[in-house]
Amino acid sequence: MTKIAEEVGTPVYIYSRATLERHARVFREGLKDAGPIHLAFAVKSNPNLAVLRILANQGYGGDVVSGGELERCIAAGMKAEDIVFSGVGKSQEELLLGLDRGIGQFNLESEEEGIQLAEIAASRGETASCTLRVNPDVDAGTHAKISTGKKENKFGVAIDVAPDIYARLSKLDGLNLRGVAVHIGSQLQQLDPLEKCYRRMGQLLTELRAAGHEVTHVDLGGGLGVPYKPEDRPPSPAEYGAMVTEVTKDWNVTLMFEPGRVIAGNSGIMVTKVIRIKPGVNSDFVIVDAAMNDLMRPAIYDAWHHFEAVQPTGDMMIASIVGPICESSDIFAKEREVDRVATDDLGIFRTAGAYGATMANTYNSRPLVPEVLVDGDRYAVVAERIKPAAIMAAEQVPDWLK
Ligand code: LLP
Repeated sequence: MTKIAEEVGTPVYIYSRATLERHARVFREGLKDAGPIHLAFAVKSNPNLAVLRILANQGYGGDVVSGGELERCIAAGMKAEDIVFSGVGKSQEELLLGLDRGIGQFNLESEEEGIQLAEIAASRGETASCTLRVNPDVDAGTHAKISTGKKENKFGVAIDVAPDIYARLSKLDGLNLRGVAVHIGSQLQQLDPLEKCYRRMGQLLTELRAAGHEVTHVDLGGGLGVPYKPEDRPPSPAEYGAMVTEVTKDWNVTLMFEPGRVIAGNSGIMVTKVIRIKPGVNSDFVIVDAAMNDLMRPAIYDAWHHFEAVQPTGDMMIASIVGPICESSDIFAKEREVDRVATDDLGIFRTAGAYGATMANTYNSRPLVPEVLVDGDRYAVVAERIKPAAIMAAEQVPDWLK
């Protein structure tokens, strides 16, 4: 780690190939008794091409929410037929791109989207395979900003109107409506909301079949939480798999899954260097060279990322760990007991492999944080640090201001 920090610089994200592969296997194994399954990695959690390639090699497809993510999956070697297109606002161009690339499934978020896709596909003499995303009105019990399955959320169609919409969409030329999809939120700490949601989907399945529809696919989304703090005990993939197997035992469909965080979260860390220690009123400030632009989660969801020194001395300190950005929200840890660190020491933020680098930006004209993949005793830079000069090169001052 010290070698990578010296050679690549800090801040830097580091992913472990072995851990990504292990998580991919463990998730699959949890579902070994669930009948036919299709696994699509939620690309939004970590879209790095090397990470996607690892998952493609593990037999995962991609759950994408934009044309950009779709192109990444193809570039990383995922099979088009294994790609599922989710997302509440797919544009006309994105629907066309999905058809051009021959992706496996569109998860429709509304009747209007279904009608639009049907028209485009029919005009090309094609049939697009799709599911209808349902909003089951279940409280996922997670942070409000990452909850998606309550009736007031913008996602899917309300479960009570789903059968009518399904009936109308199933008649359209250009669509092969083959099932339903659901996703109620992310970083779920309990199985209960998921179980409640899946049982509602089971009732809907019965209702749809009773109405004469042939339902062959149900997409159960992602959402399984991971431990961020040492004491966190989210359900394991095995417990999740056992619940799914029990709830869906009579469904007789291909079950589809869109895991993101549970695969990538604990496969990555962010390494940072201490710039200096500044005395504060309640506790000292450890000013590090990573900032909220590099890892947004604490600033926007009050998320906890465990901090450790790369070479701990055994001493602890109470400190606030902050970045150099000119905002009070640029804080990773508030008056927390952490390993004692000093100027130039390296520290790591754990569980940063999901929704870390992908949400980074260049606020305060900071470079875009690089990513490294470790494989045994070798490593490779899998995303370079994009410097302010490169970003400036894409900007122009118009002639009329010169
Ligand atoms: N499928 C759909 C339709 C989704 O919207 C999401 C996540 C997933 C799958 C993957 O969920 P996961 O297995 O990773 O929980 N930026 C936030 C998380 C946003 C999640 C959005 N949707 C964070 O940093 O916590």
